[in-house]
Amino acid sequence: MNANSPGIFPRTLAVMGGAYGNLSALRSCLRDAEGLQADLKAFTGDSIGCCGHSNEVVGMIREGFDLFVAGNHEQQAVARSTSCGCGYSSPDDEKISCEAFEIATAALGDAERDWLATWPDRQVVEMEGGRVLLCHGSPGQTSEFLYESELDDLRLDAWLDQFGVVGFVCTHSGLPWVRLLGDGRFAANCGVVGKPDHDGDPAVHYAMLRLSAEAPPSIEIRRVAYDHEAWALQMEQAGIAPVFVEPVRTGVWNTGVASLPQAERFRWLRGSQSRNGSAGRRARWAPELLDAERWRPTLQEFEALGLLSGPELEETLLLLDPAFPFFGAMRLASSVHVHVKVDDTAALPVDRILGLGGREENARTGYCKYAFEGGLNLIFSSIPVAEEDQLEPDENPQPARGKPFVDHFGVDLRREMGLVRAAFEDASGIARRVGWPVKFQGGGGRPVFCCHAVVAEKCWIYPPAEGSRWTRPLELAYGPLEISQEMNGCDLRPVDPRHPAAAAAAACATAH
Ligand SMILES: [Fe+2]
Ligand SMILES: [Fe+2]
Repeated sequence: MNANSPGIFPRTLAVMGGAYGNLSALRSCLRDAEGLQADLKAFTGDSIGCCGHSNEVVGMIREGFDLFVAGNHEQQAVARSTSCGCGYSSPDDEKISCEAFEIATAALGDAERDWLATWPDRQVVEMEGGRVLLCHGSPGQTSEFLYESELDDLRLDAWLDQFGVVGFVCTHSGLPWVRLLGDGRFAANCGVVGKPDHDGDPAVHYAMLRLSAEAPPSIEIRRVAYDHEAWALQMEQAGIAPVFVEPVRTGVWNTGVASLPQAERFRWLRGSQSRNGSAGRRARWAPELLDAERWRPTLQEFEALGLLSGPELEETLLLLDPAFPFFGAMRLASSVHVHVKVDDTAALPVDRILGLGGREENARTGYCKYAFEGGLNLIFSSIPVAEEDQLEPDENPQPARGKPFVDHFGVDLRREMGLVRAAFEDASGIARRVGWPVKFQGGGGRPVFCCHAVVAEKCWIYPPAEGSRWTRPLELAYGPLEISQEMNGCDLRPVDPRHPAAAAAAACATAH
């Protein structure tokens, strides 16, 4: 049946996207749609991808579908680009996706490429129950990701008016959803047929639309199980890298996750198919590299030495409380440091600290750091570490705390990988939502120096000094810590923006 046949409008439409060369899953989805007697079948782009088999998948699509819309993979292949054009926000994700794209285009013939060049960027299907727009990323942009957790219903509605349609269906992100907008209007993402939707279930998805004159529109996301294990073996035999095979087996993505909104990153925890930790394993929410069990005894010893107060001990442990707004960053941190200011580091009971199992690191005059098991570091300093330290007493209207005291807590996000970077970047937004001021240091190629240590970027966050369970400044540092022999000068901890001396400190900083 043809959508343009005069007087005959289709009532059922199967919409599929994102095959990525997965012949087995595509075959199963086509069979499912045929079983439902779909009047029309539309393919909305990204035929080729990480599963290779490019010519075969293009052939299967040509044979099996009535309507076609180009995705970023078709556009980029036609342009003979080496970039996938996915538009991931994480550079790690973009890199691996482009590797997959190179596998895909290497296996694509000229005749197939020429045919892909005929696909439009979007098209409207006239159905019995109204006009429907088919697009790849969003109605406006091929490579835009529309995530359910970020939908702006008024923007969706505006798009429907712009194109004069009752609904649109997109794909691209890999995560299916349906949004009903009232008066029979809708927007939907059909998911993808080439990979699972990061929910721990290897099944794949497409959308089945029913738009007749009599009934309100129905948009069903079809879940299609297929022999994913046989397909995974076939991928392996074709020499496809494990990073692309693993999600086919597990239903959980191992790339692209850093580019997802926070609300979508742990989808696999939601379903019954989630990869549940078996008995005896650490809780799945537990920080990846920190072991809080080991923190309390160490902190208690420092309390006994008079270097930490009881409330400071409790506040340190509260960094691992799920109520801590930066729990997500703590899960990914390589270590945490408690920075204690003392009168004189030379007077510290070093032997007793070493006796607790502390490993001395980067000791200098007026500064020393002890690393403990479980990812806990204690830093003691008697040199200036904060902008406030350089103020004369009469310039500093806030009463100074009596030493020793915790100046700040540091969350060390050392691993340079997408998810860790995302946790760092998310922190400032979270801080603004909870009303805790933020200051940035470094970034954009200009590192942050502290004595002999250098780190790429820091984000300082200031909880309220009173009336909150968290009271001390938080230092989120991104990137590996590099130690050099010479002193680089110090980027001091910025003064709390609410401190009466903040304006003076800022003026001083720009004058340097
Ligand atoms: Fe795409
Ligand atoms: Fe620090």
